Amino acid sequence: MEKNDNKALDNDYRDLIPRNGFLFKFIKKDNDFIHTFVEGDFITKSIMPTAMVIGKKLSDFLPMKQALIKQRFYEIAWDGETVNYEGKVGDIHYVASLNPLMVNGKVTEVIGTAIDITDKKRNENKLLELEKLAVVGELAAGIAHEIRNPLTSIIGFTQIISERVDDASIHDYLGIMMRELDRINSIVNEFMFIAKPDETMKASKYNINSLIADVNKFMEPQSNLKGIRINFDSQSEQITAVCDQNLMKQVLINLIQNSIEATEENGEEIKISLGQASDDKFFIHITDKGNGMTSDRLKRLFEPFYTTKEKGTGLGLMICRRIIELHQGTIEFKSDVGTGTEVTIILPVKIAST
Ligand SMILES: Nc1ncnc2c1ncn2[C@@H]1O[C@H](COP(=O)(O)OP(=O)(O)OP(=O)(O)O)[C@@H](O)[C@H]1O
Ligand SMILES: [Mg+2]
Repeated sequence: MEKNDNKALDNDYRDLIPRNGFLFKFIKKDNDFIHTFVEGDFITKSIMPTAMVIGKKLSDFLPMKQALIKQRFYEIAWDGETVNYEGKVGDIHYVASLNPLMVNGKVTEVIGTAIDITDKKRNENKLLELEKLAVVGELAAGIAHEIRNPLTSIIGFTQIISERVDDASIHDYLGIMMRELDRINSIVNEFMFIAKPDETMKASKYNINSLIADVNKFMEPQSNLKGIRINFDSQSEQITAVCDQNLMKQVLINLIQNSIEATEENGEEIKISLGQASDDKFFIHITDKGNGMTSDRLKRLFEPFYTTKEKGTGLGLMICRRIIELHQGTIEFKSDVGTGTEVTIILPVKIAST
């Protein structure tokens, strides 16, 4: 084909370029697939400039693993079959279709079209997360239900025994048993909360400064153990807001616990600040100078059972987000590896009734 004809053909192709996608062509030359054409704002603006692709083979502009996968699809198309596949470049997902162009029963070139399906994928992932949550919820309800009744009997009888026994050493054991049983009880309650969070919410007006100060007292033994100081000035701007005190404490405990776990022994302080965010909203910042997180890790933070800790359950942040959402607020993370992490919670002073 003449060069000029090719240009005319390329112009025709331009009409076929999907608005949210791109069009490309390739040929096989000396056993390599060489791209001869690529057009579409989607690719040239957001992924790679035309010059990176034209005249190049897959391995010239894609990581080896991706290039090999695509090469297989390219081979099938070059053998005369239409191929559809899903691909990903950076954060962008697309579906592509390869259509061989035959002249006298021989493939002379392959025309590919691709469209952006990133939004669709994002929704799919959300759905997947919701499904996971539903499964966790069911599991939680089942476990909590089975454990609650026998646990209540054990706690009751342990109390009766400790009232009737005089032996001091047995009293020590019973004390440990009661503490451990309390812990089991609170884990079971946590699971009950995952299953049915809104039924357990009891909101009234609280001074948030003293709520934070209470939590800090509670966390102090743990932070002292690692030589970390929790810095919060309870005399700062006084904030009063409607919330469920226990649930809010649970959020703060989970977040401070994460910050303590992320900070080196004898490390820097963890800073908590509180203030008015707007007329009817307030903020809580929790900042640590711990190990921080990569952007990949940040993306997965609220997934159930996502943990990087040997003894973590990976439910802490999921529960935090649930509680904050119940209070009609938002929770966001900013983090850099090596610098640390900042959590921002924004909450309404009053919860609107729905
Ligand atoms: N302040 C932080 N600094 C660094 N990494 C963090 C921080 N907070 C959370 N993470 C990361 O997010 C993951 C999930 O946290 P999350 O609190 O949900 O679960 P966990 O702490 O692993 O377990 P648990 O259910 O016992 O809280 C952690 O394993 C950790 O990798
Ligand atoms: Mg945690």
